[in-house]
Amino acid sequence: MSFFDEEQVTLNTPEGRVEAVAKVTGRGKYSAEYTVPNLCYGVLVTSAVPAGTIKSLNLDQAKQVAGVIDILHHQNKPVVPGFADEAKIRESRMGLPVLHTDKIYFKGQPIALVVAGTLEEATYAASLVTAEYAAESFNVDFVKTHPTIPLQEAGKERGTLDAWSASQHIVEAEYTIKEEVHNPMEMHATIAEWVADDKLKLYDKTQGVNNVQRVFAGLFGIPKESIEVISEFVGGGFGSGLRVWSSALLAALAARQVKRPVKVMLTRPQMFSLVGYRPESWQKIKLGADSSGKFTGMLHQAKHTTSMYENFNENITRIARLVYDFRNLKTESVIVPLNLGTPTWMRGPGDCTGDFAIESAIDELSYKLNEDPVALRLKNIALKNDPESGKPWSTHFIDECMAKGAATINWKNRKATPGQLTDGDWKIGYGMAVGMWTSGRGTASAGIRMNKDGTITVQTAMTDIGTGTGTAMQNIAYESTGIPKDKINVELGNSNLPAAPSQGGSTGLASIGGAVVEAAKMLKQKLAGYAALQNANYKDAQANDILLSATGIAYKQANAQFISYADVWKNNKLDAIEVEASSAPGEERQKFAFCSSAAHYCIVRVHTKTGKVKVDRMVCVADGGKIVNDKAAANQLSGAAVGGIGMALMEEQAADKNLGSLVGNDFAGYHVAVNADAPIIEAYFINKPDPNINPVGSKGLGEVGIIGCAAAISNAIYNATGKRLRDLPITPDKVLLA
Ligand code: MOS
Repeated sequence: MSFFDEEQVTLNTPEGRVEAVAKVTGRGKYSAEYTVPNLCYGVLVTSAVPAGTIKSLNLDQAKQVAGVIDILHHQNKPVVPGFADEAKIRESRMGLPVLHTDKIYFKGQPIALVVAGTLEEATYAASLVTAEYAAESFNVDFVKTHPTIPLQEAGKERGTLDAWSASQHIVEAEYTIKEEVHNPMEMHATIAEWVADDKLKLYDKTQGVNNVQRVFAGLFGIPKESIEVISEFVGGGFGSGLRVWSSALLAALAARQVKRPVKVMLTRPQMFSLVGYRPESWQKIKLGADSSGKFTGMLHQAKHTTSMYENFNENITRIARLVYDFRNLKTESVIVPLNLGTPTWMRGPGDCTGDFAIESAIDELSYKLNEDPVALRLKNIALKNDPESGKPWSTHFIDECMAKGAATINWKNRKATPGQLTDGDWKIGYGMAVGMWTSGRGTASAGIRMNKDGTITVQTAMTDIGTGTGTAMQNIAYESTGIPKDKINVELGNSNLPAAPSQGGSTGLASIGGAVVEAAKMLKQKLAGYAALQNANYKDAQANDILLSATGIAYKQANAQFISYADVWKNNKLDAIEVEASSAPGEERQKFAFCSSAAHYCIVRVHTKTGKVKVDRMVCVADGGKIVNDKAAANQLSGAAVGGIGMALMEEQAADKNLGSLVGNDFAGYHVAVNADAPIIEAYFINKPDPNINPVGSKGLGEVGIIGCAAAISNAIYNATGKRLRDLPITPDKVLLA
């Protein structure tokens, strides 16, 4: 058997992560863990009032604490060129211009940073700083405020409202969701070091080192090449790492001021107020259908919170334009400024919220029509073309997701009438919902360095926030070259490596995968060039006909002999071979629309005496194009569904209307779903490559795993109990009182 007759290797072997050993042994370093000589520690002092101005700061006691080096505040901090005027502040993408003025926008806003030789000294001294405020009236009450703010058009209206106002079947209802917080395990942390007057080095917890580089370049008015950002290991993000937050800038400012490296790590309570959140929202849906179950039209209205200093709109009504073929569709939205920090993207941003309302309303309609919810959706889903642009979907298998999910959970055992299935004091119900996400892709670069021992290192600046990007890169490099996986190393999360977009919006693999494929081609081509000096047959060899192994290069042509790397190195006097390639979206975007999709099916039980809801089974079937690594992909769906269970049943960040404080500030008060709250998530994939999206065929999975999840649970609760709950989270009190 020759080299080329070997069975085609598949990518889908369930091996562990490339970074697994480094993570579990502690060898892998999160941003707060680097050893930096002469490091000192910054601890935040935050505002005790939700609105007003700082009249004075009392620093005397804090300054007397041994070890205190300096205290930064709005009157003594170094100049930030990026805060020079209002326009620059907006451009900076910093959001909060921290320590810029005496103005207070929300309770918990940083007003000073105490820098000391140890964390303990800084923490103690920070506790001694007090401030006098000219307090002003504040508002953190979304429910009371939103009715006073009028809706605005969100997207072009399709058809008219009048066309379907007389439809035979109409569902009209309001849906609300409380604020949710990302809270990745790893707290946001930054070590900032000015290695020269105009050269900054940052170890930063982030989802995008190049983004951090750009933001800091703007803030300090220095070229981005003068800023190195390192984020090699990231303990989760869910969106909170897609922006630069005030704590990172404070670390850089303090390092400048005290001329030493400074570390600022948020405490867990600070994670609840300083790094964004999924905003509290209100929605209203009016959905019409004719007697055959065809949707006649939809009106989708949405409002959510933002801060007083920045407009953030997560476009909740976007998904109304994506999934179903509405000929008549009107979408309206508005944001409601409150004395809170700015919200930000959180897993499935916007769509997750909008989908809960739409998929709940469709479920309500299915009972009115006495039609199976799966069949009703299939009748109305835009399977061929993107209903907004009219372009054909490149690939779209939401119908197959629905069929596979229904078969897996035995949907046929669902009772069409609520309340039929019981088990002692429990009522049992089946629910389902679908979700979608447009498949984006950014310009990304990857490098490959081949070393003398035949090992290669695949490199990119992209971070791996726990999604398995590094493992996928290894898998793709293996498939593209033939070099065994144990000879393929991965290096990522450093701005000195080939540039890449942030890992977010389910675009990570779709962006970097293509670059790795292109870099592998270049490596083969380069090696073939060297091989041709030894064997002329290699001269016109194309990358696709070349295979690499652990020891050398082979060409799929009769007269071309195998050439060892040892010979290549020797004959060409080489130490290493380096290639770098980019991959970017192109013309395919003019011709096609791209999407990922998923169907969630669940069985829940609801306790009739306590109102407790337990998810017995959760099946999620997703179309994310080609699955590069089964295990990492299943992890994505599984983690997202557990987040969806939290969203449906537990997660709720409340603001105290009298004090302006956030109520949840630890995991005792803010409940996330843990293993005890979730069954083993049953994750499946359609696994058909999209031939147009990129050279790999992967469409992204990070978001679709959560989008339909909460609606599926709420729909199952209705099927179990006949109680329609439209306010998330569905806590036991709401179940009992409904
Ligand atoms: Mo996510 S909200 O794409 O990190």
